[in-house]
Amino acid sequence: MTTRQIARGLTLAWLAVLCVGTGLARAQSPDIGTEAQREAGKVLYMKLCSQCHGEKGDGAGYATPNVLPKPRDFTSGKFKVRTTGSGALPTHQDLVNIIRKGMPYTSMPSWPGLSEEEVSNLAYFITTFSADFSNPEAAPKPIDLPSAPASTPESIETGKKLYEENGCIKCHGTLGRADGPSALTLKDEAGNPIRPANLTHSWTFRGGSSREDIFRTMSTGFNGTPMPSYLEALPPEQRWAITDFIASLSDTNGPGYTNLIVARPVQDPIDLAKGAESFASAPVARFPLLGQITEPGRSFHPPATSVTVQAIYDAESIALLVKWHDMRADKTGKNSPSLPIPPEEEAGGEAPSAAPAASETEADPFADTTEDTVAPPAEFSDAVAVQFPVAVPAGARKPYFIFGDSQSSVDLWFFDLARNEPLQFIGRGSGDVAVNDAGDVTGVASYSDGEWSVIFRRPLRASSGAPFTPGQFMPIALSAWDGSARERGNKRALSVWYSLYMEPETVPSAAGPMIRTALIIFGLELAIIGWVRSRLRSQARNEIRGEGRPQPAMGS
Ligand code: HEC
Ligand code: HEC
Repeated sequence: MTTRQIARGLTLAWLAVLCVGTGLARAQSPDIGTEAQREAGKVLYMKLCSQCHGEKGDGAGYATPNVLPKPRDFTSGKFKVRTTGSGALPTHQDLVNIIRKGMPYTSMPSWPGLSEEEVSNLAYFITTFSADFSNPEAAPKPIDLPSAPASTPESIETGKKLYEENGCIKCHGTLGRADGPSALTLKDEAGNPIRPANLTHSWTFRGGSSREDIFRTMSTGFNGTPMPSYLEALPPEQRWAITDFIASLSDTNGPGYTNLIVARPVQDPIDLAKGAESFASAPVARFPLLGQITEPGRSFHPPATSVTVQAIYDAESIALLVKWHDMRADKTGKNSPSLPIPPEEEAGGEAPSAAPAASETEADPFADTTEDTVAPPAEFSDAVAVQFPVAVPAGARKPYFIFGDSQSSVDLWFFDLARNEPLQFIGRGSGDVAVNDAGDVTGVASYSDGEWSVIFRRPLRASSGAPFTPGQFMPIALSAWDGSARERGNKRALSVWYSLYMEPETVPSAAGPMIRTALIIFGLELAIIGWVRSRLRSQARNEIRGEGRPQPAMGS
C-alpha cells in the first residue's frame, strides 16, 4: 500500500466520520423548516385554521366556543397523534399526517385538496407557536414501531386478557364501549371533560383505525389526555395482542351506515318479554347521530354518535329495537323532549359533565378506582325517541326533522329510561311538543355493558299516528339523550330522516314455497297426462291390433 493510498484511505475515513457526524447533528437539530416555508404556512394558516386554532395558535379562535373537543392550543406543545414517546413533541411527518387526514368525529377537518408543499408549510408554521420545537434538546425522536405480526384467534384471546389485566377496562369498559368505572370522571390537562374512546367504533378513532394506528396510539399515548403510553409497561408482542383484540371489536369495514330499515314480517305474535331475541331475522341498520345545533338548547359534542335499528311486524303490530352505546345507564332524574335549556348552559358548548372535581387527571393506568372518582348520579335520565310523520307523506315533503313544524307534525315515541313505559308526544316544532295521551305505544328497555336496548311496539293501525302497511315506505328519525351529559329537550343527538320499509310477507319469503308448489303440480300433471295417454294407447292397441307405431313416452 502506497502512502498515497493510505492518505486517500484516511481522507475517505475522515469524510465518512464527518458525514456521520453532520448526519447525527442534523437528526438532533430541530426540523422547523425555512423562514420562507413558515411564512408560506402562515398565510394558509390565517385563512384555513385560525378560526379554530386562533391567530396566536392558542386554540382560541372565534369558532372555539361552539366546538368540542376544543381545537388544539399549539402553544402547549401537546399533541395526541405522534410516533414519539410520551410527552415528546411530534415529528414534522406526524404533523403533516394529521393535517392531511384530520381527526374523525371532531371538528378538525381533513385537507385532501392541499398540495404536499402546502401541508408541509402549515406543519412548519405550527412549530412557531411553541419554543420547544426550536430546542435541539427537545427534538422529537420516533419510537420503535415494529411491523405487525399476523392477527390470529390466539393473539386476540391473549389480547383480551392483557386488556383486562392492564387497566384498559377501567376507562374503556369490559367490552370496549367506553363504559369503564372511570369513564365519566376523566378530564384532559386543560380541565375539560374527556371521554374514553369507544373501542367498538374504530371509525371514530382520532388517530386512525388500522392495526398500525392502534398499536402506535397505545404505545405513545395521547399527550395532554388520560390516555396513557404503554411503551414502557408492555413489550411489543403484548401491545400487538391487545391491538388485535381491539381491532376485533369493530367491524373493520367501518360503520356501514345505511338509509333504510327493512321491517321483516314474523309469524309468531311479537312478545316484548322475549326482548331482542325476536329480532334475529331483521337486518341491522346503523344511522349516524349528530349534535342538535340548529335550535336553541344545543348539543355540540353528544356522546352517542350512532344508533342501530331493527324492525319486525306481526299481524297486529310493529316493533322497533333501538340500540346505542352509553357510558352509564342514567335511570334517575327525569327527561322529556320539551324540557327547557337555560341559555347559559348552551353557550360555549362546555356542558358541565357529571364529573366531580376529578382527582384523577393524571394518566395512571394502574391507579385503583376509588369511591370518590365515581361520578354522582345524573340530574337527567337517559332517553330515546323515534319520530314519524303524523300522516304518511303524499309527496316528497316531510315534516321538519327537528320535531316537525306547524304545517306537518310528528308522532314522537319517547322513552324516558327512568320510567317503565314509553310516552307519546306530538311535535309541531322544537318549541311546540305536547303530550299525546293515545297510549298506543308500549315498550321495554334494558342496559348491559355500556349498551342500551330499547324496544317500542305499536299496533299497525292505531288511534294516533300514521298506519303501517306492508309494502310502504315510512320516514323515520331518531334522537338519543345522555343524562350524564345533561342532555334533555333540544340538547341531544339526533338523526335526519331515513326510511322504514315494511317488507311484504309474500315477496321473498313466500317465493320459494310458491315455486316449489308450482313444480310439484306441473310434475303431477305430466304424470297424469302420461298415464292417460298410455291408457288411450293400450285401448287403441286393443282396438286396432298391431297397427299403431310405438309412441314416444311423454317427458322424454
Ligand atoms: C373547525 C375547526 C378547526 C379547523 C378549521 C382546523 N382545526 Fe385543527 N383541530 C381542531 C380540533 C377540534 C382539534 C382537536 C381534536 C382533538 O383533540 O381530538 C384540532 C387539532 C389539530 C392538531 C393537533 C393534532 C394532534 O395530534 O393533537 C393539528 C396539528 C391541527 N389541528 C392543525 C390544523 C391545521 C393546520 C388547520 C388548518 C389547515 C386546522 N387544524 C384547522 C379544529 C380545527
Ligand atoms: C385512564 C383512562 C384510560 C386508560 C387506562 C386507557 N385509556 Fe385509552 N383512551 C382514554 C381516553 C380518555 C381516550 C380518548 C382520548 C381523546 O379523545 O383524545 C382514549 C383513547 C384510546 C384509543 C383511541 C385513540 C384514537 O385514535 O382516538 C385507543 C385505541 C385506546 N385508548 C386504547 C387503550 C388501551 C389498549 C388501553 C390499555 C392498554 C387504554 N386505552 C387505557 C383513556 C384511557
